[in-house]
Amino acid sequence: MAAVGLSHVYPLGSRLNERGAFELGGCDVVELASEFGTPAYVYAEDDMRARAREYVEAFRARSERFEIVYASKAFPCTAAYRLFAEEGLSCDVASGGELYLALKGGFAPERLYLHGNNKTEAELAYAAETGIGCVIADSFDELERLERIAPGQRVMLRVTPGIKALTHSYISTGQEDSKFGFPLEQAPAAIERAQRKLDLVGLHAHIGSQIFELEPFVKLGEILSAIGDYPLLNLGGGLGIAYTAADRPPSIDDYAERLLSGAPDGVTVLCEPGRSLVGNAGVTIYTVGTVKQIPGVRTYVAVDGGMFENLRPMLYDAVYEAEIADRFGGGTPCRIAGMHCESGDIIVREADLAEPRVGDVLVIPATGAYGHAMANNYNALPRPPVIFCSNGNARAVVRRETYADLALRDVEPEA
Ligand code: LLP
Repeated sequence: MAAVGLSHVYPLGSRLNERGAFELGGCDVVELASEFGTPAYVYAEDDMRARAREYVEAFRARSERFEIVYASKAFPCTAAYRLFAEEGLSCDVASGGELYLALKGGFAPERLYLHGNNKTEAELAYAAETGIGCVIADSFDELERLERIAPGQRVMLRVTPGIKALTHSYISTGQEDSKFGFPLEQAPAAIERAQRKLDLVGLHAHIGSQIFELEPFVKLGEILSAIGDYPLLNLGGGLGIAYTAADRPPSIDDYAERLLSGAPDGVTVLCEPGRSLVGNAGVTIYTVGTVKQIPGVRTYVAVDGGMFENLRPMLYDAVYEAEIADRFGGGTPCRIAGMHCESGDIIVREADLAEPRVGDVLVIPATGAYGHAMANNYNALPRPPVIFCSNGNARAVVRRETYADLALRDVEPEA
């Protein structure tokens, strides 16, 4: 069988190999399934590096003043931090935990930006202690905390620009009615307050995530620059990705063009991509456990995953594609279910597989962002490992959780 090209949903450089099996980073995922077990998050390292470079080049072609900041909530994994640090990016962390992992991954503290609408005193103190580059202040209460805990800290102010971009309401953040940031009309008071005891270097806004239209990003730069003259404007992340072959997100290049067009000359524009750096780099592999045909109703294909390892279909009605790893193609319309004791545990509602059988390895693409990140232990299921593949070599960068891990934090009653 000749190698067959795959849609843009799959990692760059992936293909169907000579025996018809899906391969990424030069590794056959059916072989990975027997080596590492399933379910597993599998990433093509080169894909992540290529996207980081694409971002840097798209901005460098248009501006001398910019910073690409990896929004690490999309994939807060030490190995990913290491990879993006090596690529020369900066990094956004949304909690003390992400800050810890970013430092462990090798990011210099001055390249880190701390976000969050309710950072605790402990998180702020930890950030200040590490010498963090910048804290994105989100409220008057936080400004008060920062003045006390970290006087002189470099800060940016997060404002809600009053822009509503088309995306799921749970991941829309730019509208005025939001828990995040200062409403526009409070920005002058926040600026005045921040200048008293802190080092205010710029403004920040993030309008949401998985966004395909580019106009809101132009408007964003215009709105922020109208607030005042600052050396730094952080315009957030949000560029959408393809989850199915029918999705046609804008290119990183077009996004950079529009994002920069709204910002005035002379300012440094910070851009915080998460999903678009890692989403298409990762796939999840599963093993088919049962195939249940309900005559006249439908076929259910159950795999060894579910809402513990990919919460997105249940939380946002996110739509994914699926294939049998060594038999791409359709023929059997079916619904792909997980293994939880819950009817809502459906990973793909409308799938079309090639005669799925028990024991088949199943691949779901575009799970690289917010999959591992939002994994949990519902039904006490151990979380999957993370496997990085490059040039035909596969390595676990996060091991599979064990049953013993599940009891690791138990406090036994005293005898
Ligand atoms: N910057 C800030 C301040 C953010 O809040 C976010 C995402 C980003 C950057 C990165 O956005 P991205 O480039 O990844 O769109 N769990 C949801 C996504 C939540 C996004 C939260 N903030 C999901 O699975 O779709």
